Amino acid sequence: MPKKCCVIGHPVEHSLSPAMHNAAYRELGLDFKYDAVDVAPAGLADFMRLLRAGEYLGVSVTVPHKQSVLDFANVVSPHVKAIGAANTLFCDDGKIVAENTDWFGVHCALDEVMDLKEKRILVYGAGGAARACLYALRNAKAELFITNRTISKGMALANEFGAQFCEVSEIPQVDVLVNATSVGIGGDDRLLVCPDWLKCTEYVFDMVYTGTVLEQVAKDNGCKIISGKKMLLYQGAKQFELFTHQRAPLEVMAQSVGL
Ligand code: ATR
Repeated sequence: MPKKCCVIGHPVEHSLSPAMHNAAYRELGLDFKYDAVDVAPAGLADFMRLLRAGEYLGVSVTVPHKQSVLDFANVVSPHVKAIGAANTLFCDDGKIVAENTDWFGVHCALDEVMDLKEKRILVYGAGGAARACLYALRNAKAELFITNRTISKGMALANEFGAQFCEVSEIPQVDVLVNATSVGIGGDDRLLVCPDWLKCTEYVFDMVYTGTVLEQVAKDNGCKIISGKKMLLYQGAKQFELFTHQRAPLEVMAQSVGL
């Protein structure tokens, strides 16, 4: 019997994680299998019982469970504590351990293409994805700005991470725009900033990897695009290493998601 890993979410069919992890198992000849498991919020407790019983070696966690899984974790890593969300679970000696590798995905995706020092970076959004992003940028010596539709949430996050809050209508010109909102997931896709503003933005990093309107318009206006698939790749590679204790075959994983 192969060892089992999976991604849980609701919905989850769109996830590229099964293709990416299974490609890595094949490459290294590991007897592992990775599935997508649709878990509705009401079914989370039952799923956790399976995990505790040893049914899965490792679990990737996506929307809407990244915060609620913490209610079931026996051990949370310092990254999870600081970010307030987990994208990774595994069972160690009957204990559920919660980890976060999203921040590492953000760090690698940005670090690969630029020196963040003295860059002006605007994070759009104030949910879990934005928190992972700001945590990744906390030591970057970059100038950080936050904007968000709900002002109070954006302000609180800006305070917590030493960033400057700006209302959506008053965003300053920056070097890097990060879309950390959920806009573009599912049917709700719209342009978050005006095309003229994008003309002076060097990089756009969309954490949503489905190919958003923002990404397309940014490209049309001369911005360099950092694909959300890069973040998917690096957060997944870290998970692979946690689950299998083997070094992740990055190139194969990248190809499997179309990078
Ligand atoms: P996640 O954990 O994936 O980050 P979340 O915590 O629900 O998801 O956060 C979603 C983010 O997307 C929030 O910043 C949300 O803005 P609000 O705080 O105002 O809710 C943002 N968001 C979602 N839909 C949006 C929309 N149509 N326009 C602008 N921002 C939106």
